[in-house]
Amino acid sequence: MRVQVVIIGAGPAGLLLGQCLLREGIDAVVLESRTREHVLGRIRAGVLESGTVALLERVGVAERLHAEGLVHEGFDIAFAGGRTRIDLAGLTGKTVTVYGQTEITRDLMDARAAAGAKTLYEAQVLPEGFEGSKPTVRFVKDGKNHSIECDFIAGCDGFHGISRASVPAGALRTCERVYPFGWMGVLADTPPVSEELIYVSHERGFALCSQRSRTRSRYYVQCPLSEQVDEWPDERFWAELRRRLPEDAAAGLATGASIEKSIAPLRSFVAEPLSFGRLFLAGDAGHIVPPTGAKGLNLAASDVHYLAEGLISFYKEKSSSELECYSQKALARVWKAERFSWWMTKLLHRFPEEGDFGRRMQLAELEYISGSRAAQTALAENYVGLPY
Ligand code: APR
Ligand code: PHB
Repeated sequence: MRVQVVIIGAGPAGLLLGQCLLREGIDAVVLESRTREHVLGRIRAGVLESGTVALLERVGVAERLHAEGLVHEGFDIAFAGGRTRIDLAGLTGKTVTVYGQTEITRDLMDARAAAGAKTLYEAQVLPEGFEGSKPTVRFVKDGKNHSIECDFIAGCDGFHGISRASVPAGALRTCERVYPFGWMGVLADTPPVSEELIYVSHERGFALCSQRSRTRSRYYVQCPLSEQVDEWPDERFWAELRRRLPEDAAAGLATGASIEKSIAPLRSFVAEPLSFGRLFLAGDAGHIVPPTGAKGLNLAASDVHYLAEGLISFYKEKSSSELECYSQKALARVWKAERFSWWMTKLLHRFPEEGDFGRRMQLAELEYISGSRAAQTALAENYVGLPY
């Protein structure tokens, strides 16, 4: 079998790239190691930058997003018992859209199936020969060996995928920060505590009030990485969240049975470069951000924007210059989002090892932000998404 591009991974990065190439008549197959149901079963974030929404519109997968997504013009930061609203629309003219990553993945899978484009699930994949001009992807499916020849391989298989692991040691530089805490997340069919998101900096730790719809809420509290989910019965979660919220929000918090509960570690990670011969890394395969800035999915989308541009220019204009600068272009935006996500994490979480002085610095910076239009504008323009 031969195709122009093999895409490894059917997460948002792989499927979105598949949709971009499909629209341009570029022949690509998506290989995914898990089942469709497993991929759709993952609960992930869901705050979309305006650039991500525009890309989904451009490739014709924004109908349900516009019908069911919630456009947010701002969000709150709560600290020291009070709140400051960051007026995204007023400060930047842009908004964000709350629409679950699972829904985007579903929409992209449906668009691909509707077009009859090939996606193979439960395929154990091995990329080869991408240093040279004839890459091949071998895979085992239903106990049978298969191989696909191609021009390019797009490694969209996430942090633990085979693609980055297949690059010879020494050919990639990695840069990492692992944070000494996690996020205990709960999904519940309860009305959200507020119209917009609330990011909370509290003596007891960070908290976040987010949502998936007007009837489904998503909440997080900072927790020690040593703790297990079963140490957090729903009652404990709700009690801890309520303690960290400003009084008015705490009074209005609707609680209920969790329908999903998990602990997510926090990490900043970047691999450089993002291309190696004819293998290109996109999304979590190349970089991870802590979720505090809601950048993970949006960075996958901007990588795909640059990679699709390069592949389309290669096939349509017979030029490889765009592809050659894919890594540099994508990383330039990745590092800015890494900085913003690290800064939001440092600002809003408790770092006991930083002591009283560290805490006073956080409070002073939060006070400064709540009183400075310039500081709020800088925050807002990073949150809505820096230009591509
Ligand atoms: N072979 C084939 N597929 C694989 C392999 C492999 N060896 N290893 C992993 N995969 C699949 C995973 O099962 C998953 O479906 O690759 C896909 C990678 O998807 P994601 O991890 O969602 O990564 P990405 O598409 O880059 O999306 C980034 O996901 O984790 C969130 O916060 C992150 O929002 C960001 C988004
Ligand atoms: C979420 O809705 O899951 C979410 C929102 C904003 C974040 C992180 C997660 O910064």
